[in-house]
Amino acid sequence: MCGVVGFVGKRACADILVKALKNLEYRGYDSAGIAVFENEKIKTVKAKGKIREGLEEKLKKEPPLNAVCGIGHTRWATHGEPSDVNSHPIGNERISIVHNGIIENYREIKSFLIGKGYEFESETDTETVAKLLDHYYKGDPIKAIERVIGVIEGAYALGIIFKDHKNTIYAVRKDSPLIVGKGNGESFIASDMTAILEYTREYYCLERGEIAMLDGSGIHFTDLHGEPVEKELLTAEWDVESAQKGGYEHFMLKEIHEQPDAIRNTISPRVKDGMPDFSECGLTDEKLRSYKHIFIVGCGSAMHAGMAGKYLIEAVARTPVIVDIASEFRYRDPLVAEGDLAVIVSQSGETADTLEALKLSKAKGADTLAIVNVVGSSIAREADMVIYTNAGPEISVCSTKAYAVQTAFMYLFAFQIAYVRGKIDGSRCRELVKGLLEVPEKISECLEDMSQYQFAASKIFNADSLLYIGRGLDNALSMEGSLKLKEISYIHSEAYAAGELKHGTISLIEEGTPVIAVMTQNALKEKMISNVRTVKSRGAKVIIICRSSEKIDEDCADYKVGLPDADDIFLPLVSSAAMQLIAYYTAVQRGCDVDKPRNLAKSVTVE
Ligand code: F6R
Repeated sequence: MCGVVGFVGKRACADILVKALKNLEYRGYDSAGIAVFENEKIKTVKAKGKIREGLEEKLKKEPPLNAVCGIGHTRWATHGEPSDVNSHPIGNERISIVHNGIIENYREIKSFLIGKGYEFESETDTETVAKLLDHYYKGDPIKAIERVIGVIEGAYALGIIFKDHKNTIYAVRKDSPLIVGKGNGESFIASDMTAILEYTREYYCLERGEIAMLDGSGIHFTDLHGEPVEKELLTAEWDVESAQKGGYEHFMLKEIHEQPDAIRNTISPRVKDGMPDFSECGLTDEKLRSYKHIFIVGCGSAMHAGMAGKYLIEAVARTPVIVDIASEFRYRDPLVAEGDLAVIVSQSGETADTLEALKLSKAKGADTLAIVNVVGSSIAREADMVIYTNAGPEISVCSTKAYAVQTAFMYLFAFQIAYVRGKIDGSRCRELVKGLLEVPEKISECLEDMSQYQFAASKIFNADSLLYIGRGLDNALSMEGSLKLKEISYIHSEAYAAGELKHGTISLIEEGTPVIAVMTQNALKEKMISNVRTVKSRGAKVIIICRSSEKIDEDCADYKVGLPDADDIFLPLVSSAAMQLIAYYTAVQRGCDVDKPRNLAKSVTVE
């Protein structure tokens, strides 16, 4: 996730900006840069790679900078590979900007600007904002910013400098974080307080529709029409580590809370006029129509996202899908061949087995589509087509938001296959896409009150073993719920198709065995209730995850975890946040090291 910083004061600022950027390194990045007012010009220094080896080395080769005002950025690549030219700040001799977020309509803006004679150097969405500002700027920064804000769609936190408004920073945001720090005779902007805690603890939260202007006289807030806005000055009580976690106790909890935005960032750029659109990666409708077989391959949570994809694609697009674990796929001489599509799913893009599965599929003549979070990773580079999931870096070892975005992508993918293969018409496809775009809001509702997850956790944290049961999509998604629980709390857990229990596994149930029953599918409700009663009558302690509005008899389940209402097809994706939180609070109550579970690594680059 990109990091934004800015400084205005009386001291030389280059080192302050670099230090502030280093404080944001935990967010993950692949390039860094600064732009400062130096000798009546905007001077930009930026480089691919780590700050120490890239930006700092370049700065050492420059004459010392005396500037007292500038902006800085760490970039986590989303549009365009990590490179010097794609690094921020981006702009020209008149204007320079740093941006965190994603501009969804950047293609349209780019075409408009090319029509006006602008030329583009980078592959970034950010360059369209810089050029649009340049286009509208006629001497009044606020007016130019107001025009730009009216055009751009998506998420942004922007720090902006104009050459002819020396030693002044403008900042504006929507759906990406940005705070404004107030120091002693100096001011800052930053993605979060971590960046500037050693300089000040006092800050303002910038809201949507407000513009901050920082100059030698202090900090001024206006609305988009230039009218002054009064804001409350806040004081940060955190230490640096908790600031990195945005005030959350663990990265896992923070990343669970980032899921609504992460899903928006994955889905919105791939929706055009209400319909799925994968043209950015070359996955045309003709190709999607033509594939004989679709394989989805990954490891762990990524494979579970593939399992959700299988259920969705088969249900909506009536197209069979083979899901495989990468380490099995690569050694079993799979039947993948020319004319097939292999969808390779990976957060890191570096998992050894998954990478080999990709190479094997290519060697056998299949088209390969990578669903990857880390831009420029090995799997992204190797695949024929790439969809980046734009979730930002996932720091907790256990996957939460990366799984959520992979699964969300599977929905959109299923809808597009269904549409191009004539299984649903345009209006149904639009309806489904609309439903998917509403999922982030539903997940946000789930995240409002933690008490029911904490309560459920208190009922299982002493268990040695438990079962997750579900049917249909609930079965697919509870595989991931079960993996979460076992990997961070070390309680043995299995996910089982509810109807399969009676063929053996039910013998594990004894007095007090916890069972988590996921029941979001109205169409399968009666069958699920009967499975739940069966385990309950054998002594199981049942926690049921279902709609809050569902009436559950006491003799059926012991506790209920309520979900907001949503269509059957979308509620499982919402319920996965509830399962992650139950796992999280169980691990916390057991005193486990949530973000770094024993024996596990974030990126498994060996077999
Ligand atoms: C579980 C988890 C792992 C990863 C798996 C694949 O929480 O994080 O199961 O999903 O190691 O990793 P990627 O997606 O990086 O290929």
